[in-house]
Amino acid sequence: MNQWLDERLHLSRLNDKFLRKAFPVHHSFFLGEITLFSLVILILTGILLALSYEPSNSLVINSFDPGSADKPNLVPAAYHSALKINAMPYGDMLRRIHHWCANIMVAAAVVHMMRVYFTGAFKKPREINWWIGLLAMIFAALTAVTGYILPYDNYAYNTVKVIYGIVASIPWVGAWLAQVAFAGNFPGDGIIPRIYGYHIMLLPMILLATTGAHMLLMIKQKHTQPQYAKRLAYKKIVGVPLMTQQTPIMLLLALLFAGIVMLFSAYMPVHPVEFFGPPSTVPINNIKPDWYLLWVFGALAIIPSIDIHLPGNGTLTSEFIGAMLFPAIPLALLFLTPLLDKSKENLYYAENPTNHPKRLAAGVAFMAFMLVMSLAGYKPDLISGGVLNSGNANTVLWILVFVVPVVMYFLTLAIVRLIGRMHDADKRERLARGQDHVAHSHD
Ligand code: HEM
Repeated sequence: MNQWLDERLHLSRLNDKFLRKAFPVHHSFFLGEITLFSLVILILTGILLALSYEPSNSLVINSFDPGSADKPNLVPAAYHSALKINAMPYGDMLRRIHHWCANIMVAAAVVHMMRVYFTGAFKKPREINWWIGLLAMIFAALTAVTGYILPYDNYAYNTVKVIYGIVASIPWVGAWLAQVAFAGNFPGDGIIPRIYGYHIMLLPMILLATTGAHMLLMIKQKHTQPQYAKRLAYKKIVGVPLMTQQTPIMLLLALLFAGIVMLFSAYMPVHPVEFFGPPSTVPINNIKPDWYLLWVFGALAIIPSIDIHLPGNGTLTSEFIGAMLFPAIPLALLFLTPLLDKSKENLYYAENPTNHPKRLAAGVAFMAFMLVMSLAGYKPDLISGGVLNSGNANTVLWILVFVVPVVMYFLTLAIVRLIGRMHDADKRERLARGQDHVAHSHD
């Protein structure tokens, strides 16, 4: 059988070229794999959900609560189909697995990016893969956002209203662009079919293309080697071949991951549509986006309210500055990261983060900035909880946005230097003890 297939498909060449590739073994390298597994589960569960979901916001009678003949209970078909999926055997579970994996995929991509940053794996020759990875992460977040609009409950309705407003706030072209992107004025009949198209075709295709390119480039450029490889065989690739060693390790991890996602989904509901109910003109109190967009929401919450008229009938609004201009800064910093490194040599070994204190401190400061921006997203809760008041909230949060990252930068530098000094003292002490020992044995 093997020979029959080989004569036709030249499988042995594939085996020699790809399947014998050595993969370094290190637990931090599993982060990228977890991102990949989430993507696979998302696609599989997404296909199953698409079989029963109805991408339309036309009104239909809610079969679970039909109302009366003269006052039927009308809800959008998309919302009704989400209720129907929930009522199917394992339907609710399917929705939960899909939603959990969307969150896990973005989270795993973020932690994976942190691993790449802190170990310097973005350096020459892997700069292009850093950029492709960033694009994949941004598209993963966009795919997730379009996904939670699809059930078209009151949460989705209010979310899409906010996003429509943000797109429409782009000076000069915003109103036109929002109409093009959302198939007419908000909330037009075309909105759900249009977002469905983005969610199941356009965005997954981009996501698959970027992830595919990311993987191919990673195989071509080879993985950075963990530090222990330096001691085992200098400048040689130390690892296990994809077939047959690495594949069972990955399969085992995939099964473990699937099991954990199942447990999460069985016991922790995500986004119960019935709780939010069908779209309503009454806004939901204190609506917040998912955790990965909270920082943008925070920027919107604390940006001062302004309206600057620009030449040619354009307006620069606080909505545009808060939701687009300001968030562009951290994203630009991430894109520019590989350019900050000027080394001419290719990076072979993953670096120890504490050997690069400034890079480590800058990364910690960046994370602190994002966390404080996300905290600003809780401004209404901080005010209602009495932590801040509406008079000082913006000032306090702006001060925190700038002060906390600076403090974290210098604190990290101080801690790394202190640890370095303790290591040096320890080394000197061991050296002295060793010499002492040698001197005594000579006596
Ligand atoms: C959609 C999301 C992503 C997927 C599915 C993905 C997947 C992977 C996988 C499986 C690996 C090999 C194992 C590992 O190093 O963990 C990898 C390596 C890599 N990824 Fe990603 N990744 C994603 C996002 C990102 C992001 C956001 C960045 C950075 C901005 C990035 C940069 C890199 C780099 C530079 C490598 C090579 C690392 C090395 O050689 O040590 N990736 N990725």
